[in-house]
Amino acid sequence: MPILDIDVIVIGAGAAGMMAAASASQRGRGVALVDHSERLAEKIRISGGGRCNFTNIHCAPDRYLSRNPHYCKSALAQYSQQDFIDLVNRYGIDWHEKKLGQLFCDHSAQDIINLLKSECDLVGIEWRMGTQVLGVSQTDTGFLVETSRETWRCQSLVIASGGLSIPPIGATGLGYEIAKQFDLPITPLAAGLVPLTFEPKDLYGELAGVSLDCDAHGGEGPHFRENVLFTHRGVSGPAILQISSYWTPGREITLDLLPGRDVTQLFEDAKRSDALLPNILADWLPKRFAQAFCAAHVAIKPMKQYTPAELALLASHLHGWRVKPSGSEGYKKAEVTRGGVDTDALSSKTMMARKVPGLFFVGEVVDVTGWLGGYNFQWAWSSGWVAGQNA
Ligand code: FDA
Repeated sequence: MPILDIDVIVIGAGAAGMMAAASASQRGRGVALVDHSERLAEKIRISGGGRCNFTNIHCAPDRYLSRNPHYCKSALAQYSQQDFIDLVNRYGIDWHEKKLGQLFCDHSAQDIINLLKSECDLVGIEWRMGTQVLGVSQTDTGFLVETSRETWRCQSLVIASGGLSIPPIGATGLGYEIAKQFDLPITPLAAGLVPLTFEPKDLYGELAGVSLDCDAHGGEGPHFRENVLFTHRGVSGPAILQISSYWTPGREITLDLLPGRDVTQLFEDAKRSDALLPNILADWLPKRFAQAFCAAHVAIKPMKQYTPAELALLASHLHGWRVKPSGSEGYKKAEVTRGGVDTDALSSKTMMARKVPGLFFVGEVVDVTGWLGGYNFQWAWSSGWVAGQNA
């Protein structure tokens, strides 16, 4: 097997890896980018429904989960959302804000992949797609990276192999294994930005497809006011994906099904009505949902037959419906992996492992997880760029 010399090896040609390779090569470093997949950046291709929510104009450190919430600050400041927007504009890619500061390509996520590939090819890098990483070891001057094609001797090694979500498109735990090999700690891993499931008996099965504007809370973390979508197995939609990153098994989630509305007043106004309760609620909630929700909580009868105590109890359920998910849909449906290489072991200024000079971790493999809405790609761009400046 030939041994080739190069300055920097980047493992993983996804969002963070391509950014790191471009950033290092444009500083004049020789870079090889190794990925076991034949196809470039599959997650970018499928992201944002094929249009890639590539950043968020409200990007800020408080939109990230990490054992050390301060860790992401330096990278986000060194390479900000505006830096990436400027890059997108330089390439003439048309984009729009969908909602809540989320920026999407007008045409296709492929525009972002092409941009990153062009940035890598500006000075030139060695592309090694479809190449297995067989092993990594430390030498006096850097690292040896043994691959299915050749062995590389490099000064700096950037691990950008991502998390565990969506294994069929190439996710593996290689980054965590390399971290363990170098005795770097890993915080607990879990699926994040993921639909939650209910036990069949709790499942409002007939509600699949119903969507509601809710204020959702996962037991910890912020409240999210967005849509909740009922599925055949549980709940999904942006509000649920957001709180799933804060939820831990065994905990209840709380949904205000009528945020900002006064259901007590609605009941007061209708207290002498002959109409059935679900029909009263159907003014404010999808009819199918009102029917199932009432049936699960009270006997259904005309409005005027309820006692004030019964209505007060129902109002409290509507404004604070507490349900205990049985689990999540796991890595096969998760957008991200929560947890990762412990940031205590890494420099926030450079992304380099404190006790392994020349070894860098970027993107999702690190214990930094963004909210839904373009925050995870921004972390990939920021951390990748910073590592490339230092590798
Ligand atoms: P990423 O997963 O992009 O890249 C890792 C690379 O490493 C891959 O190319 C993989 O093949 C390679 N690799 C893995 N194991 C290897 C091994 N053993 N040997 C060699 N190579 C290996 N975020 C966002 O901000 N906006 C959005 O719109 C979306 N949408 C979205 C949709 C879906 C369906 C998913 C699953 C995820 C998103 N995300 C998102 C999250 C976003 O895709 C994710 O945070 C980034 O892709 C992470 O970038 P990384 O470069 O760290 O990993």
